Amino acid sequence: MDIGNIKLPEQPLFLAPMEDVTDPSFRFLCKEFGADMVYTEFVASEALIRNIEKTFKKLQISQIERPAGIQLYGHNIDAMVESAKIATEHKPDVIDINFGCPVRKIATRGAGAGMMRDIPKMVEMTRQIVEATHIPVTVKTRLGWDSESKFIVDIAERLQDTGIRALTIHGRTRAQMYRGEADWTLIGDVKNNPRMKIPIIGNGDVDSGTKAKQMFDRYGVDGIMIGRATYGRPWIFREIKHYLQMGAEGGVPELEEKIEIARLHLEKSIEWKGAPRGIYEMRRHFVTYFKGLFNFKDIRTKLVTTLDIQEINDLLDEIKQRYCV
Ligand SMILES: Cc1cc2nc3c(=O)[nH]c(=O)nc-3n(C[C@H](O)[C@H](O)[C@H](O)COP(=O)(O)O)c2cc1C
Repeated sequence: MDIGNIKLPEQPLFLAPMEDVTDPSFRFLCKEFGADMVYTEFVASEALIRNIEKTFKKLQISQIERPAGIQLYGHNIDAMVESAKIATEHKPDVIDINFGCPVRKIATRGAGAGMMRDIPKMVEMTRQIVEATHIPVTVKTRLGWDSESKFIVDIAERLQDTGIRALTIHGRTRAQMYRGEADWTLIGDVKNNPRMKIPIIGNGDVDSGTKAKQMFDRYGVDGIMIGRATYGRPWIFREIKHYLQMGAEGGVPELEEKIEIARLHLEKSIEWKGAPRGIYEMRRHFVTYFKGLFNFKDIRTKLVTTLDIQEINDLLDEIKQRYCV
């Protein structure tokens, strides 16, 4: 599967953009475990054009993450076009437009999924962004605004006509937020529409190799994007690839490897955010990496309170001594 001039393997797996989650340290880890493409968390166009330093930092992509996309959102066409030009200077492999964010303060102002209530504007915005950059433009969206307006099959055709190079669809409406089960039927209808030529990436609730295979087989999507299942489990890409290739479960790290993953994650997090912030952010990951260990409370408490890097490394050694026999 290709997105513009980006070559991807068959049945590629994408790390979903997630605010406050998919920072460069997490993207690095997911990439190490086989994510074929990653995205920045969404970047507010209005903040970019106002030169907000914190927002600019979100545009940074390291060489090792590539191919990687910068995702933009906003409700104003001019601001989105301007921010696409700024993003282009940071040389992402794609620019992705967010038409899927359901969060009230974004969607009700007409950005993110809110754009699904004004499809002509959505199409016009996309057209102008495609014209404004030489980098491939992609879109990530949902099935529709609510159960009465699941217009994704029509929307997909119209977006394709603007010149976008791929479309990711999360199988929920805006009204559903993250509730209920993702419905992939309409994603399949988009993929199987003979008018559609661009790659279709399915998204929603994929959390295992079996589920990924089911979605590829049943709906024929070109790629799958994974979000929440990566929390504390960046190796899920390895697990899914193992299943797709071997037809059997595998690829889950033993505890010893998880300890080394935690160490590397800590190092990358500090490299990116500095101490102490990089350490604070690791605390939630430590909890998930070592979930389920028997009699672990004493070490866990220290791991999520100390700010001493040496002490954290010593605690990781202690986990190894205590639990890896
Ligand atoms: C904490 C969090 C942050 C998210 N941030 C973004 C974002 O910045 N841009 C975006 O397009 N989607 C965002 N999403 C939606 C995910 O990319 C994805 O579409 C959704 O979680 C469904 O996929 P999943 O079932 O694999 O998690 C976010 C989701 C979560 C849970």
